[in-house]
Amino acid sequence: MVDKVRRSAFVCQQCGHAAPRWLGQCPGCGAWSTMVEEALPEPRARAARAGAPGGQKPRPLAAVAAGAALRRTTGLAELDRVLGGGLVAGSVVLVGGDPGIGKSTLALQACGALARQGLPVLYVAGEESPEQVRLRADRLGMAEAGVLVVAETAAEAVAELIGETHPAAVVVDSIQTLHTSALGSAPGSVGQVRESAALLVARAKASGVACFLIGHVTKEGTLAGPRVLEHLVDTVLYFEGDGAHALRVLRAVKNRFGSTNEVAVFEMGEGGLAEVPNPSAAFLAERPAGAPGSAVLATLEGSRPLLVEIQALVSRSGLALPRRTAIGLDPGRVALLLAVLEKRMGLPSARGRALADDVAVWGEVGLTGEVRAVGRSEARLREAARQGFRRCVLPASNARGLAVDGTRAEGVAALEQLFEVLALA
Ligand code: TYD
Ligand code: MG
Repeated sequence: MVDKVRRSAFVCQQCGHAAPRWLGQCPGCGAWSTMVEEALPEPRARAARAGAPGGQKPRPLAAVAAGAALRRTTGLAELDRVLGGGLVAGSVVLVGGDPGIGKSTLALQACGALARQGLPVLYVAGEESPEQVRLRADRLGMAEAGVLVVAETAAEAVAELIGETHPAAVVVDSIQTLHTSALGSAPGSVGQVRESAALLVARAKASGVACFLIGHVTKEGTLAGPRVLEHLVDTVLYFEGDGAHALRVLRAVKNRFGSTNEVAVFEMGEGGLAEVPNPSAAFLAERPAGAPGSAVLATLEGSRPLLVEIQALVSRSGLALPRRTAIGLDPGRVALLLAVLEKRMGLPSARGRALADDVAVWGEVGLTGEVRAVGRSEARLREAARQGFRRCVLPASNARGLAVDGTRAEGVAALEQLFEVLALA
C-alpha cells in the first residue's frame, strides 16, 4: 500500500504539475478538474533509460573544446531561418499547432528536402498509416526513396529504430500518440507524453540524430497537456494561421541554438506549403485603395520588417453599452490607444477620411500623445520603399539622417504633428 502511494502522483493534464494527492484545482496553472492519477516511473529505470552518465568528472570550462554545433540545411530556407540557420545534429525540435494547420505537411516536406540531399530520414507515423503518408507524399510530389516510414506508437520501439536506421533526422507525428511501457497510465496522458519525449530526447542526444516532435495544441492554446515538453526540448516552434486563409506563420518561441525572434511565412496550396519570400506583399495583397479605416504599419517580426494593414471601423451602435472589439490585436492596447486619442486629441469619433495609398506609418504612442522611437526604423523604411511606399511617417527621433532613395521619411514627435502631416487634423 505504502509502495503504491509512493509510485503514483496526481498530475495536471494541462501543465504537468504533480501533487501527492488529488486536488480539484491545479496549484500550477489554476485549471479545474485536471488532476489525474498517474503511475510514476521507477527512478532507477528512468535514469538508466536516460543514459545517465555516472562517473563523469568536472573539468575546467577552458578545457572544454568549443565545438560549433553541427548544422545542416533542411532544404527549406524558411524553416532553416526559424531554426536559427539550419538543423542542429542531436537537437530536438517541438512543432506545435492546431490540428489541420499543416504540421504533418511541413514535416513531410522537410523530410523530402533532406532526402533530396541524400540524407536518410525516418518518419514515424502515429496518427496515419504509411499508405496515407505515401498519398500525401505523392500529392507533395516527393516519393523519394530516402524517406523511411513506419507506423509505430511505442516510444521504446521508436528509440530502437533510431539506433537501427541511424537517420539524419526523425519525425514523430505526433508525440501525443506515443506511449512507454515504463508507465501504467493511459496513452495520451501527460505522464506518457512526457516520459516518451524524455526517452526520445535522450536517444537524440546520444545518437546525434535530429528529432522533430509534432504536438497538437488544445483549444486553450497549450500543447495538449505537455507544456512540460517545452522544457525538455531544444527548440519550440509554433505553426499558426487561420483556417480560412492560406497563409501560415512558423515562429520560434524557444531556441537553444538561435534567436526566438525569427518567423517564416508559408502558403498552403494544392502542392503543399510554399515558402513566401515576400510576406509584406502577401499581407498587403487585398488592401482596398482609398478607403477610410485602413493604414499600413511597418512592424517587426523578430528582426524582420513586415508591412501589415490595420483596419478600423466605427459605426453607430444600437446597444445601450456600445462595444469595442479587436481581432488580432491586444484589446487592452487598442483601448489604451483610443483613450490617448480621446484625451490628447479630443477625438471622440471617426473622421471618415482615407490616408493616401502610398503612406506607411510606425512608432510608439506614449500616454501624453508623444510619439516615441522604435527599433530598426531604417530596415522598416527599406521594406516600405521596396513595397512601393513613397512616404513614411515615423518617430522624429528615428527619422534623423534617415534616407532611402525615392521614399520620404517624415519624423513626428507627437500625435498632433502626425495628424497634420497626414492631413487628418
Ligand atoms: P496537415 O499537415 O495534415 O495538418 P496537421 O498535421 O497540422 O493536422 O494538413 C492539413 C490540411 O492541409 C488539410 O486540411 C489539407 C491541407 N493540405 C493542402 O491544402 N494541400 C496539401 O498539399 C496538403 C498535403 C494538405
Ligand atoms: Mg498531422
